[in-house]
Amino acid sequence: MSKRLPVDKLRRFCVEALEKAGLRREDAAMVADVLVMTDSWGTFSHGTGALRNYLVSLRAGGMNPRSKPEVVAEGDSWAVVDGHSGMGMLGSCMAMNLAIEKARTNAIAWAGVRNSSHFGAAGYYANMAVRHDMIGIAMSNADPNMVVPGARGRIIGNNPLAYAVPAGEEHPILLDIALSAVAAGKIIAMKELGQPIPSTWLTDADGMPTAEVGDWPATGSMLPMAGHKGYGIALLIETMAGLLPGAGVLDEVKSWILNPTAEGSLGQAFIVINPGIMLPIEDFKHRVDTMIRTLRGAPKAKDSARVYLPGEIEWERREDALKNGIPLPELVLASLHAAARDLGLDTGLLKTEEAEP
Ligand SMILES: NC(=O)c1ccc[n+]([C@@H]2O[C@H](COP(=O)([O-])OP(=O)(O)OC[C@H]3O[C@@H](n4cnc5c(N)ncnc54)[C@H](O)[C@@H]3O)[C@@H](O)[C@H]2O)c1
Repeated sequence: MSKRLPVDKLRRFCVEALEKAGLRREDAAMVADVLVMTDSWGTFSHGTGALRNYLVSLRAGGMNPRSKPEVVAEGDSWAVVDGHSGMGMLGSCMAMNLAIEKARTNAIAWAGVRNSSHFGAAGYYANMAVRHDMIGIAMSNADPNMVVPGARGRIIGNNPLAYAVPAGEEHPILLDIALSAVAAGKIIAMKELGQPIPSTWLTDADGMPTAEVGDWPATGSMLPMAGHKGYGIALLIETMAGLLPGAGVLDEVKSWILNPTAEGSLGQAFIVINPGIMLPIEDFKHRVDTMIRTLRGAPKAKDSARVYLPGEIEWERREDALKNGIPLPELVLASLHAAARDLGLDTGLLKTEEAEP
């Protein structure tokens, strides 16, 4: 038996908290949906566990609770949204919805956001396109927390990237990753356990690979995934999500956690491709199903029980979460209770229920 919180209660709590922090009800609902969907996938590093830090930034002025994102330039197949330093989810949902609408008639569309903030998990936005039988790609830059080959210190963000592909009978393919070798949360966990780490995760103050967490993140830096390849893709994201919409890049982007009073100047980009314009959509989705089943049926490595598709682990967790509630980690639950205390909110909605795992 594990302790679980029903999806709907968690969403209602987040809406209440965000409204109390000054957001309009419809904006609070949009942000809450992003965070709770992310938790239902089991991606707890970027779900409601981040709520308390968002509330800090909303109070401190780094994020403006009353800002409304605005379309500042657009063409038939592209748009630029100004997030006006509101919560990153609001400008990002607006931009992704615009890209979806424009791809309906133009087959492919790009929309970017400037003056934005942290948008949470990239996968949420990529998945928005799938709901319309379209391929979605979502990306954001982030404040520098990663070194690049040959350099020392934090030079570029571990810029998240997600793509989602609609399937027929199968779950959509959904890859959602950061471009560091490993997420910061995993390094923090090893630090807390006092354990050594693989030397592909961090560099020390001299820019040398290290198997010791040391005093990171005070000094040292995360390493890109796959070395120069992760670096190269992080730079693509700086171009697509930073330069193109007119957002900050590299050290112009500020950390919303370390500098909650500073506007983040982040950028996001969303690309939508509408396969239904190029070929019959049912044929496309059928071929996606076939591709998925071929991969799943691949010969297994010794001791391997299963081959997963990107997103498959998360879709299974979500099905379970919708049925049995979300198995929120203790740390996330504690931070939600702390957020409730900060705001003077009742914690009734956070009461967990026992459920079969
Ligand atoms: N907003 C930001 O600034 C920011 C920055 C960094 C990360 N993030 C978010 O953090 C989250 C976690 O990122 P991460 O890099 O730690 O993710 P991760 O390394 O845990 O990878 C998760 C992805 O890999 C897929 N996957 C895992 N095992 C698989 C397997 N065996 N076969 C096939 N696919 C498999 C999952 O389905 C998922 O799509 C993401 O949601 C990302 O968007 C956001």
